[in-house]
Amino acid sequence: MSHDLFEAAKAAMAKAYAPYSKFPVGAAIRTEDGRVFTGANIEVASYPEGWCAETTALGHYIMGGGGKIVEIAVLAERMAKCSPCGGCRQRLAEFCRPETKLYLCDNTGVAETVTMSDMLPYGFRGDILK
Ligand code: THU
Repeated sequence: MSHDLFEAAKAAMAKAYAPYSKFPVGAAIRTEDGRVFTGANIEVASYPEGWCAETTALGHYIMGGGGKIVEIAVLAERMAKCSPCGGCRQRLAEFCRPETKLYLCDNTGVAETVTMSDMLPYGFRGDILK
């Protein structure tokens, strides 16, 4: 099933800088008011310094004013239903609600829909730090 958020993630994936892993990833975040923020993975020759597509998208989301996230799409060129890594699940959860939808995509569109609570049950919550 095609989906405009999938298309946004795909366009972002085309901008990935992944010369080391050759594993381009794209992510797209939609807020309640319809804004869409995208990102791709960015690698660095000192490998641990690179970061994920979801993290790039979150940076754009914050700099674009933040807000309630309602949907996220993730796409990898070489893996159907690539799901966010553990670190990105924690970063996404910071700004999402348990019911926020996450679309795991393949190269043709949305392959599976899950929620943030499916992705990160029992995740660390920072409420006590506030
Ligand atoms: N990657 C992402 O961008 N998002 C994920 O959720 C999983 C992994 C990237 C990081 C690295 O550039 C490449 O995929 C291979 O691990």
